[in-house]
Amino acid sequence: MNNTISDFILARRSVTAKDLCAPGPSEEQLDIILRSAHRVPDHGKIGPWRFVLFQDDARDRFGKKLARRFVKKNENATEAQIEFERHRFLRAPLVIAVVSSPIDHPKVPEWEQVLSAGAACQNILLASHALGFGAQWLTEWYAFDKYVAKKLKLTSAEKIAGFIYIGSVDKKPDERTRPDLNQRITVYR
Ligand SMILES: Cc1cc2nc3c(=O)[nH]c(=O)nc-3n(C[C@H](O)[C@H](O)[C@H](O)COP(=O)(O)O)c2cc1C
Repeated sequence: MNNTISDFILARRSVTAKDLCAPGPSEEQLDIILRSAHRVPDHGKIGPWRFVLFQDDARDRFGKKLARRFVKKNENATEAQIEFERHRFLRAPLVIAVVSSPIDHPKVPEWEQVLSAGAACQNILLASHALGFGAQWLTEWYAFDKYVAKKLKLTSAEKIAGFIYIGSVDKKPDERTRPDLNQRITVYR
């Protein structure tokens, strides 16, 4: 049976952020990516996620903040490490921070709302790949840093689900080894 969508999902691979380059998605393509992110299963129709976009000079400005924070946390940071932090968001033309924004709800546990934000991340990857871009879902240290959370105006209930790096790719990534599927399946009897 030939099913283009399942073939596409079965061949999907992330592209490492350092291998992404310009151009990034156009306004129209970005709109498709964000609408795809927004179209995920969502118990209670809460929409427990939001997106922060990093493009153009904003990536550089944010990188400077990351570098300052990195130095504060790592007194012995080398010049090369600081430079890497400064350029972190410049690895791709577009970075989307997916923020998990759960609310107190009488019927929908926080866990389900967090999963829904994860689904938004995956839809960003799928839509980006479908449009011919490479993308990678990363958290790295700054997803868990209080100072960075403050700079992104996260509330105390919010967490970073991921920073999704998106850009063009020169070369398709090779397949990677995967966990054994059979060891992860049991049939309940
Ligand atoms: C929530 C989440 C956070 C991740 N954070 C990182 C990370 O910080 N650094 C990293 O190298 N990979 C991270 N990854 C893994 C990559 O996104 C990606 O899955 C991996 O490179 C394998 O690629 P694949 O999508 O082709 O299977 C993360 C994945 C998830 C789901």
